Amino acid sequence: MILSIDINEAAALLRANEVVAIPTETVYGLAANAYSAEAVSKVYEVKERPKTNPLIVHIGSVDQLAAVSSSVSPNAQKLAAHFWPGPLTLLLPKSALITDQVTAHSPYVAVRVPDHPLTLALLHHLGFPLVAPSANRYTSVSPTTAVHVAVNLGDRIPLILDGGPCRKGLESTVVGFDADDHPKIYRLGAITLEELQGVIDSTTLFDEAENAHSQPHSPGMEKKHYAPITPLVVVDQLEHFLAENMPLQIAPIGVLSFGHKVTAAKGTTIYELSAHKNLEEASSRLYDGLYQLDSKGLQFIVIEWFENQRLGRTLNDKLKRASSAL
Ligand code: TXA
Ligand code: MG
Repeated sequence: MILSIDINEAAALLRANEVVAIPTETVYGLAANAYSAEAVSKVYEVKERPKTNPLIVHIGSVDQLAAVSSSVSPNAQKLAAHFWPGPLTLLLPKSALITDQVTAHSPYVAVRVPDHPLTLALLHHLGFPLVAPSANRYTSVSPTTAVHVAVNLGDRIPLILDGGPCRKGLESTVVGFDADDHPKIYRLGAITLEELQGVIDSTTLFDEAENAHSQPHSPGMEKKHYAPITPLVVVDQLEHFLAENMPLQIAPIGVLSFGHKVTAAKGTTIYELSAHKNLEEASSRLYDGLYQLDSKGLQFIVIEWFENQRLGRTLNDKLKRASSAL
């Protein structure tokens, strides 16, 4: 595996149906030619991802949407115009060019225009769309640096296109539309419910419990996801939890702090997400914090729930899944 900043090297491999890790503003993706069955099947293999979990298609601009989707509703057009390039993935009726292999037999394709200069240049250069799930092994934490990708998949892929740390650091928000064209959020991500409602006020969260059997089901909503190997404990009050548990502590633990006043007791590793309690900064650093702490053989990692609004809602959703006991 090599690290490269040369899109021509990445393009040559992608044209030869190889998989390559690419940077985006959200997380690194494991990319392959969306129109090649051979290339797409390699993505599933490398990621050890079940074939029932569909892939996001990445296009270079909204002009390429007609190639991958057979119809784009008025509200879909409105959201695309507002948020692309950016961390919004739209679920739209697929075109004939997008195979069942990509969508896991769903009639909908997930599509977005990523906002990263290297990857946008690569997409324009290639002329075909790229499927790209997050470049981690199935159920592990999404990578936000080239080093995270190397740790996860370095022995399985020929090249990582190194675009630096991901600016947003959380996956894209996945949005579908109901029969009346009202947007439904299937996966919370870097674009918040509040931001979407600012553009289309009827936007709501897709209710998992109520719609357990409806389509399009998004496996990003699965309970166990993005989990570190070290157990993650999420608490209501971090300082309080530490004061109560420190005296009982038998092995080193990790703390993901959000501007908390944590005194570094012996055997505690502190990772500061944002000293000034800035949610954008904390979001961009959460996965790096999990990667860093996960490599230290700690007994557990502790973090406090965020206020449940804006990016705090997304962060809480990720924490819920990462801390799931399942
Ligand atoms: O930010 C992102 O979205 C990153 C970067 C690389 O673009 N990609 C990413 O891909 O997070 P992945 O595969 O890890 O997550 C894609 C999510 C999953 O929850 C998947 O189930 C859902 O999108 N999805 C993909 N295609 C779908 C489809 N046709 N119908 C419903 N959900 C779909
Ligand atoms: Mg993923």
